[in-house]
Amino acid sequence: METIASVEKLQSRIEHFRTQMLTVGFVPTMGALHNGHKSLLQIARNQCDVVVLSIFVNPTQFNDPQDFKSYPLTMDEDLSMASAEGVDLVFIPNVQEMYGGNLSVDPVDYGSITKEYEGLTRKGHFDGVVAIVRKLFQAVNSDASFFGEKDLQQLAVIRRLASEEFPNMKIVGCPLVRDADGLAMSSRNIRLDANGRNRALNLSRWLGVLRIAAVEGSDIDAALEGIRMEAAAIENIDLEYVDVVDSTTFATRRGEWKTKGSHAIVAANVDGVRLIDNCAIH
Ligand code: PAF
Repeated sequence: METIASVEKLQSRIEHFRTQMLTVGFVPTMGALHNGHKSLLQIARNQCDVVVLSIFVNPTQFNDPQDFKSYPLTMDEDLSMASAEGVDLVFIPNVQEMYGGNLSVDPVDYGSITKEYEGLTRKGHFDGVVAIVRKLFQAVNSDASFFGEKDLQQLAVIRRLASEEFPNMKIVGCPLVRDADGLAMSSRNIRLDANGRNRALNLSRWLGVLRIAAVEGSDIDAALEGIRMEAAAIENIDLEYVDVVDSTTFATRRGEWKTKGSHAIVAANVDGVRLIDNCAIH
């Protein structure tokens, strides 16, 4: 496994693989790798000849400077996991390499995909995600890129970016991975203590409530309202949103949730740690 810090060197290594007619799979991350990332690497490994992993904590996608500062860094463990999963190249650029001293990014408007939910509560977040993913896609120029379905709205944004600007690249959405207690795996989970983790389990439980309401055909709006009231009464949970959406457009589904692609989504701050989760309900 080779680690590379410059775009130029990365491109020359990838060019070398291309001359050997090898397919390239790309897994972009911000590090602090967990079993969710491991499954992305395994899926990429199964589908492509060469696997490229990037580790870059992208400053432009953090709307909260405190969140950026406290983002976990576990480089040694990340490299061990990458090597164990058979990654060929790890791209670890610094901010200068990716942004050349200019951290301003263009606003992105993909309609409700960028405006609603994460777009509304984390102003500018998707502008930063699109800016860095575009730069990474240009640098790696992979045949396929792999993203987790935990960040479902991000996946919708990236699918749109790819369809407009990288039409030959396959975007592969990979299933969300949960810990045994049901908590969706996230790099941020290591900032939760035992009590925080218990409180965080409400997120997957609420998704379960919505899923059951959907299966039983009961009133989803009433279930959503019940969850909002319950959350308001729990100390140290600040519910940002809970809703049912179309997973491609991120338009809110009201009444017509019995259509394919309906997903329940939730975001909350638990003890100051921002968590998101989702599940298909139809
Ligand atoms: O999902 C992430 O880890 C990041 O948002 C991504 C796609 C690597 C861009 O920084």
